[in-house]
Amino acid sequence: MDEFVTVVDHPLVQHKLTLMREKETSTAGFRQLLREISLLLAYEITRGLELTTKRIETPLCEMDAPILEGKKLALVSILRAGNGLLDGILELIPAARVGFVGLYRDPDTLQPVEYYCKVPPMLDERMVIVVDPMLATGNSSAAAIQMLKDRGAKNIRFLCLLAAPEGIAHMRAAHPDVPIVTASIDERLDDHGYILPGLGDAGDRMFGTK
Ligand code: URA
Repeated sequence: MDEFVTVVDHPLVQHKLTLMREKETSTAGFRQLLREISLLLAYEITRGLELTTKRIETPLCEMDAPILEGKKLALVSILRAGNGLLDGILELIPAARVGFVGLYRDPDTLQPVEYYCKVPPMLDERMVIVVDPMLATGNSSAAAIQMLKDRGAKNIRFLCLLAAPEGIAHMRAAHPDVPIVTASIDERLDDHGYILPGLGDAGDRMFGTK
């Protein structure tokens, strides 16, 4: 594996992912597993956060203790499935700033078109973690990341649950400076752009729509 993509092979992540893939898993079960797995993935993607120290007093003595440096990080969810990953990560990092990007696919050009973008200020001074559970073609993820770069973001990471090789290749070409963290690299896309073996439509499975 190269440094561009990190596959989180922790047994808990892999176990929970298997349960999420199973078609019999209920909406409530899927949502709960997504929340749990997102905490573990968030742990991995925030590994590189910078630390500084703060002088504190324990009950016994003073010490210089590590604390996070710099501006609060920004989490940006690609609507709508990104919100499922977002909720879990926010439990781990409650002070994070949150943004949303909405894109739809133009039926004629098949290219992603922006319909919503609301992001925290001073993106250039923050680590920005973009979340979307499924990296399939990579079209919407690459477009969302470009929107954030256009608004000043410089230090961006991308977090997903499953990645297709096609999506990784697209991201590597479009944004080689944006490392990816995922729980699995699956085999390929089908003719409709679904990841195989995958887990189906992540949004439908987490919201109970079809
Ligand atoms: N989006 C999904 O929700 N599932 C896929 O398999 C691909 C894209």
